[in-house]
Amino acid sequence: MEQNIQEAAEFVRARGFDAPFAAAFVLGTGLGTLADELTDVVSIPYTDIPNFPKSGVSGHAARLVAGTLEGKPILLFQGRSHYYETGDAGAMRVPVGLVKALGLRRLVLTNAAGSVRAEIRPGSLVALSDHLNLSGGNPLLRDHTEGRFVSLTGAYDSGLRATLQAAAAKTGIQVPEGVYAWLSGPSFETPAEIRMVQILGGDLVGMSTVPEVILARYYGLDVASISVVTNLAAGIEGASPSHQETKDTAAEASDKFKRLIRAFVAELPHD
Ligand code: HPA
Repeated sequence: MEQNIQEAAEFVRARGFDAPFAAAFVLGTGLGTLADELTDVVSIPYTDIPNFPKSGVSGHAARLVAGTLEGKPILLFQGRSHYYETGDAGAMRVPVGLVKALGLRRLVLTNAAGSVRAEIRPGSLVALSDHLNLSGGNPLLRDHTEGRFVSLTGAYDSGLRATLQAAAAKTGIQVPEGVYAWLSGPSFETPAEIRMVQILGGDLVGMSTVPEVILARYYGLDVASISVVTNLAAGIEGASPSHQETKDTAAEASDKFKRLIRAFVAELPHD
């Protein structure tokens, strides 16, 4: 593993982040309050961790949190760095590499997303089954290892998707599956771009997650991803999304999101 990831791993291990975590979660816009559900909490601001991304946007706390949920130790990334902040699609390389360096096997990526299908309404939770990278970016550009030619077939792990569906059934929450289209942002899409995404087979649109999926597969982690639908995408039923709307709706849906995550963690094996 690269030196800068090892440095981050040594730093957080020395501060007690060495449990056999059942899974790590990257929490998207408005979803950071999952951390309030944990017991035995330890947290470190990203700004303290060597080689971690320094930037964050409103709606993101920018802390690494360890704690217990449903009797299992888990790791939370409260906030992420986005491609649109730095122009570097590899901005999350150290955090994702850290998950691997700490010995975890599972990474769950969460996000706020727009729906390009009117029947998937704001407030819905969607489990990702695949993605479309429409950003032009890739976190492995300029990587020179053989590992850069990573396969993305089956990137969204079928076992973890089955666990999510088991959690959905237990909680009575509907969790349809969908394809997430990544566009760079930070401007929202045009209605014409959303019509393009519909034609290409996307169900959701967002500005994150895909580079983290690519990095996670590069590091051999099993990946699941959950979107909280915060709005109808541009032009659908006349929609004109705003950042405020995405934050507000994500916060409104966060109770449902937390119930699903709790049930999901309860279903995970202990390792
Ligand atoms: N487009 C892109 N990203 C988003 C959206 C959207 O409509 N909603 C939440 N994140």
